[in-house]
Amino acid sequence: MQEEIKIPRHIAFIMDGNGRWAKKRLLPRKVGHREGVSALRRMVDECEKAGVEMVSFYAFSTENWTRPQEEIDALFKMVKEFADNHLGEYVKRGFRIMFMGDLSKLPRETVESLKKIILSAKDNKGMIVNIALNYGGRDEILHAVNRILSEGIREVDMQTLSDCMYTGGLPDPDVIVRSSGEKRLSNFMLWQAAYAELIFVDDYWPDFDAKIFRKILEEYSKRDRRYGNVRRIG
Ligand code: IPE
Ligand code: IPE
Ligand code: MG
Repeated sequence: MQEEIKIPRHIAFIMDGNGRWAKKRLLPRKVGHREGVSALRRMVDECEKAGVEMVSFYAFSTENWTRPQEEIDALFKMVKEFADNHLGEYVKRGFRIMFMGDLSKLPRETVESLKKIILSAKDNKGMIVNIALNYGGRDEILHAVNRILSEGIREVDMQTLSDCMYTGGLPDPDVIVRSSGEKRLSNFMLWQAAYAELIFVDDYWPDFDAKIFRKILEEYSKRDRRYGNVRRIG
């Protein structure tokens, strides 16, 4: 008998291995990133088909600024192209589109493209597509604390802090998937990851396809989520 497949409300991807994917083929790293964008689009399609409510992608970390300037420039150019060429279609499909991270440090042209999309998707009610750009989990927590202080709040409970995160009011990820065989969070969603299932896939991110997505759902469905209790919850 086939196991029942459970669909996570929120699935988050740490997209890793673009560089190694390219290196294996003797191609420049930026070709790996370009293929990475295609993989992201495939995963958005799969999530929509599966009925996921929210999907998050880790695209650029606060630590990624240490990379060669040429790679950083190529990455943000690609983000702009992705926004200009594909996000409009996502808006038409009804997706709510958000970016989490400190966008003020991004190149101006990239931010302008992102802002246009945010504005045109603001009344959408469909699947949430959340892209982390210049994002760091520690940075997010600091940002939340400073916001609380600036509002003069003197006592903080769990809800206040949660609400001040970039994901305020949205569900925590049920599952965080990292590609390329690395087994760490690299500063991703530290607050929200408290009870996420972690799935590590050996394939490089540009190779992610419907088959890998299916395997992820199968693995997630097998997990026994107890939240500190003695029995499975949900
Ligand atoms: C992930 O792929 C994309 C970003 C972090 C921007 P990498 O660029 O980290 O690829 P590897 O890890 O070097 O293979
Ligand atoms: C994590 O990948 C960040 C993103 C996917 C954006 P990295 O390749 O930057 O992480 P480390 O350096 O292996 O931890
Ligand atoms: Mg990497």
